[in-house]
Amino acid sequence: MAILVTGGAGYIGSHTCVELLNAGYEVVVLDNLCNSSEKSLERVKAITGKEVTFYQGDILDRGILNKIFAEQKIDSCIHFAGLKAVGESVEKPWEYYNNNIAGTLTLVDVMRQNGCKNIIFSSSATVYGDPAQIPITEECPKGQCTNPYGWTKSMLEQVLSDLQKADTEWNVILLRYFNPIGAHKSGTMGENPNGIPNNLMPYVTQVAVGKLKELGVFGDDYDTPDGTGVRDYIHVVDLAVGHVKALKKIEEKAGLCIYNLGTGHGYSVLDIVKNFEEANDLKIPYVIKPRRAGDIATCYCDPSKAERELGWKAQYGIREMCEDSWRWQKNNPNGYEA
Ligand code: NAD
Ligand code: UFG
Repeated sequence: MAILVTGGAGYIGSHTCVELLNAGYEVVVLDNLCNSSEKSLERVKAITGKEVTFYQGDILDRGILNKIFAEQKIDSCIHFAGLKAVGESVEKPWEYYNNNIAGTLTLVDVMRQNGCKNIIFSSSATVYGDPAQIPITEECPKGQCTNPYGWTKSMLEQVLSDLQKADTEWNVILLRYFNPIGAHKSGTMGENPNGIPNNLMPYVTQVAVGKLKELGVFGDDYDTPDGTGVRDYIHVVDLAVGHVKALKKIEEKAGLCIYNLGTGHGYSVLDIVKNFEEANDLKIPYVIKPRRAGDIATCYCDPSKAERELGWKAQYGIREMCEDSWRWQKNNPNGYEA
């Protein structure tokens, strides 16, 4: 039996492929490469000595989905494929709703037609909006999203939950990621953003490698210990392992489950700068800029439900996240491009 990994060539997907192969699963990847490179899958092979079966195509394309289900014995799907740039989603809402929502509806329809009713969905802490409580537990109500990207995650959680309630043969696990950073220890796989990075860690590493002049810190007047935004950064390999644990849960007939995947620790923007500098013996010049629209002050989770029910707990600390992000960027200044 194989696992269909949509978006498996991307940042989190490629790291998850490594962990799945290492755990003995057969892996089939579907990715249209709109935000990734097939080279990531070559690196997966170099690390694991095993190959994934790759289909280049779109989750909106029933034809390729039917072909995959006809050719492979798919048991479960880990669904990463989606567009994820918050700012771009405000400019192009239709593209985001179409790709993420219509894409997922198409995928799920083909899955059920083929009797495959097991799905793990990449959700996000963004569904909590400005959270009602810190640390955030899964009982915390979902909030108002500030952008179409966030709404696609919130709406898809609803769609998949309703599907499972109506047909209890479905096993649906919604994983709410906090802030994934870091890279594989080998330094051969990591985050590969297009253009100027929107997220903090890739921006920091591009300053470190000399591609960008200085970091802009978005606001130093939040109600946090040093005034800068606080987030729950999680090593991407820990996140990847979380998916393998979620698959085990599906094998035990999970029903509908929701888990926060984070470390439970909050670090400010300046904490990240300081830890990155100390871990890698580098200086990161920065300037304080105005707040970024839509940002909240503090976001970190209580990850104890995942520990209790999945036996999953993040193993890597902030120092390793900083070291591993830098090793990837230093060895691959242009990401997967030569
Ligand atoms: P990524 O862009 O690196 O990976 C997404 C992959 O999906 C890419 O390889 C892209 O080419 C592919 N894709 C997009 N639309 C597709 C389509 N229609 N058909 C086929 N393939 C398609 O992003 P990532 O950081 O690895 O994120 C993976 C998932 O996790 C996404 O759903 C994202 O929204 C979610 N997530 C990410 C973060 C984060 O900070 N990175 C946080 C929370 C949730
Ligand atoms: N920040 C800066 N300068 C930058 C980039 C970010 O100061 O150049 C600050 C932000 O203001 C925030 C913190 O660094 O305080 C983290 O920002 P990111 O953009 O790295 O991450 P966010 O928490 O804003 O959002 C990310 C993803 C979302 C996802 C969320 C929770 O972009 O899609 O994590 O998983 F929903």
